[in-house]
Amino acid sequence: MMALSENGKLPPPQHVAIIMDGNGRWAKNRGLPRTAGHKAGGETFRRIANYCRTIGVKYLTVYAFSTENWKRSQEEVSGIMTLLERYLTEALRDMEKNRVCFHFFGDLSRLSPKLRKLCEDTQSRSSEFHEVQVNFCLNYGGRDELVRAARAFAADVAAGKRSPDSLSEDEFANYLDSAGVPDPELVIRPSGEMRTSNFLPWQTAYSEFVFMNVLWPDFRPEDLDAAIEEYHRRNRRFGGA
Ligand code: FPP
Repeated sequence: MMALSENGKLPPPQHVAIIMDGNGRWAKNRGLPRTAGHKAGGETFRRIANYCRTIGVKYLTVYAFSTENWKRSQEEVSGIMTLLERYLTEALRDMEKNRVCFHFFGDLSRLSPKLRKLCEDTQSRSSEFHEVQVNFCLNYGGRDELVRAARAFAADVAAGKRSPDSLSEDEFANYLDSAGVPDPELVIRPSGEMRTSNFLPWQTAYSEFVFMNVLWPDFRPEDLDAAIEEYHRRNRRFGGA
């Protein structure tokens, strides 16, 4: 068993990825509109992101909006977009105080010009901060990411910059949205669903998955501790003996 850190807890993985699921059910259980569930989910995100910083997680990647989520009602989609706009506006305001580096995975071209500008501004203005990085997956789909990467590589081949035979796994990873970010060691999906739903298929090839029975708005720092403990109980061998 690994040594406990100063606070008596097991050291966290350097990169934690979370599928923030269960907002709709949380709201339904309370007779509230689904958007109320997303609002509560956004608050949980703030709390968990702060906690990740406290315990020393270096990268936190969250699934905020998938390429499939556009199929939801217009009201729900615009509710989520408004929450994201508010969050990023606040992040820009508090940039110097919080010193978090923001990245965005996904095809941002389909977002509103306002939200896209907020994404670009937070990413560029936070690029000087290196201690903690939050990756928001927005209009993200893992297969879409792989197709975009394949297209970008093909374009480099067509331009004579690359040759197909020279492509390695590491080089292909540089064409992904996650270029330069180490793979997540731990992926958490709350809400009782046991699927990965097109979330980081390349990057999670060797990740530990922890599925939990709590709805995302109810997810507490203690749940993250429990997931990290579960991660440490597993014996990670990467296919070796
Ligand atoms: C999945 O729950 C959640 C989403 C599709 C949206 C996640 C967005 C947020 C938590 C808000 C983003 C804002 C910030 C500030 C991070 P679901 O609606 O699929 O839940 P259900 O399966 O119970 O219906």
